[in-house]
This record gives sequence, structure tokens and C-alpha cells, in this order.
Amino acid sequence: MSSINLTNRPELFDFEGISMTHYFTDNWEKVKNFQARPDDILIATYPKAGTTWVSYTLDLLYFGNDAPERQTSQPIYMRVPFLESYIQGIPSGTELADNLPTSPRLIKTHLPVQLVPKSFWEQNSRIVYVARNAKDNAVSYFHFDRMNMGEPEPGDWNTFLQTFIEGKRVFGSWYDHVNGWWEKKQTYSNLLYMFFEDMVEDTGREVARLCSFLGLSTSAEQKEKITKGVQFDAMKQNKMTNYSTIPVMDFKISPFMRKGKVGDWKSHFTVAQNEQFDVVYKQKMKNTTVKFRTEI
Ligand code: A3P
Repeated sequence: MSSINLTNRPELFDFEGISMTHYFTDNWEKVKNFQARPDDILIATYPKAGTTWVSYTLDLLYFGNDAPERQTSQPIYMRVPFLESYIQGIPSGTELADNLPTSPRLIKTHLPVQLVPKSFWEQNSRIVYVARNAKDNAVSYFHFDRMNMGEPEPGDWNTFLQTFIEGKRVFGSWYDHVNGWWEKKQTYSNLLYMFFEDMVEDTGREVARLCSFLGLSTSAEQKEKITKGVQFDAMKQNKMTNYSTIPVMDFKISPFMRKGKVGDWKSHFTVAQNEQFDVVYKQKMKNTTVKFRTEI
């Protein structure tokens, strides 16, 4: 198991057709053979699409009432293990998940749909997929890679954007990711496909959607409390959800809870970059029905 080297960023390589770093492939045998359970809830996203937001919402929905110390002493990444993560100093995702004392287990993954361990499908586990529009997703990923020494060098914004378009970032192509999961949704009924933009627009409505998908009879009062608890400012202040406890992230460069907005891409994309992006986007998304909003 390798620790994160603060001076040497990891290289990308091709892993089963997907750009990856070794932090997410070194434990592959265990990931591939991971034993899912029927009541597991898998939270799947392309990086920076709102993983932490939905993880925390689900954690509060299931455990917010009965275990107050869970909310104050355990960072969200310990409560919701990152399945494929294998980094020295932090227990591996599979180990954390195997040892979770609570049920249901909430498990996070950034894997494209075709790499998800097969036991999740066999067990018919519930899956919440969160997608975010490509432009904001790219901007968020750029700032994340700047401040996270466990990520490959982002280069400057233009360099980053070109690699994002080419699918040469960790976990591969955004286009393939959102499209692959969208296609899966057509045949796998235990999958809820959510959008970051919808959560920003009306968090309460999306919390209610989660409850109905999961068959939870959470009271209106409780839902309202959770909706407040997962607002951007609340999560940014909360040490257990803002990632301030992770040493490889340099918040002086950029905080984890950065802006939480729809449309921040407008302050990053030049007119030329936007035109180029739109042309590629049209081409790559021509065979899918999934629709994204780049403003609300
Ligand atoms: P920005 O960089 O655009 O601010 P992930 O958890 O998948 O890594 O996604 C992180 C992104 O989600 C960041 O986007 C972060 O600010 C945003 N985010 C996290 N919690 C949020 C919340 N409660 N409200 C709005 N955005 C949130």
C-alpha cells in the first residue's frame, strides 16, 4: 500500500480502458471480489459531482437521529467508505466497508458502471448516482486537482480542460461515465439517477426524492432539519464534512467545499474554450437522452 507522496504526484495509466492512478487500482482483487449485501446503498459519481453532499444526506437520513457521536467524531469518509481507495495511513475502502458496524452500509465509488463489482448487481443493491453538468464538473475537478497532492498534476486551466475533454483524468471520461450509468438506469430499477443542479435548485425536494426511492418514512420535520444541515455553508463549517482532516489537501490553494454553485464555469471558460467544448459535447452526447443544465 503506498502513502501519498506530498512532493511526487501520481501518474495516470490505462486500466481496463480507463485513466486511473494506482491509489484506486492497487487493491483491485479485493475490490473486484467485494461482497455487496442486498441492503447496501452504493453512492456512485464521477469525481466532483456532489458525492460528499449526497453521502452526508444519506448518513443523516439513516443515522442522524440515533447516533449523535457518529456525527461529531467520525469524518464522512470514515462513515461512507470509498470502495476502491487504497492509500497508506487510511484503511482501505474494502476494509472499512467490510468492518462497518451499521446497516445499511453506505459505500461510495467513482467507478464507471462497467467496473462496479458484480456482487452489487447480483445482490440487487440500491444505487444512488449523482451527475453534474460537464462544465461545472470540470472546473470543480481542476481546483480539486490543484489542491490534492494525491491527484495527477492538473497543469493550468487550459491544459486541464483539454485532458478533461480527452477523458485523461482519474476515473476516465466524464462523458462515458454519465452515459454509461444513464444507460444502466434503463435496465436496473434499483438505481436513482440524480443531478447536482436539482439539489442546488431545491434541496428539500431532492431529499424527499431520496426518501421515496429508499422507502423511508422520514417525518417532514426531520426532512427539513436534514435539508438545513446539508446546506453548503453548514457543511463547509462542519469539520466532519469539509475534509479539513485530510493532510494531502492544501486548503490554502483551494478549499474542498469551494463554491457549491451552478454556473461557476462562466468565470473560467473563455469564449473560445466554450465554443470548442460545445462542439465536442454535442458529438460525444449525440446518442444519449440524458440532459444537463449548465445554469438554473
Ligand atoms: P465546487 O468545487 O464547485 O464548489 P464531491 O463531493 O463529489 O467531491 O464534489 C465536491 C463539489 O460539491 C464541490 O464543488 C463542493 O463545493 C460541492 N458541494 C459539496 N457539498 C455541497 C453542498 N452542500 N451544497 C452545494 N455544493 C456542495
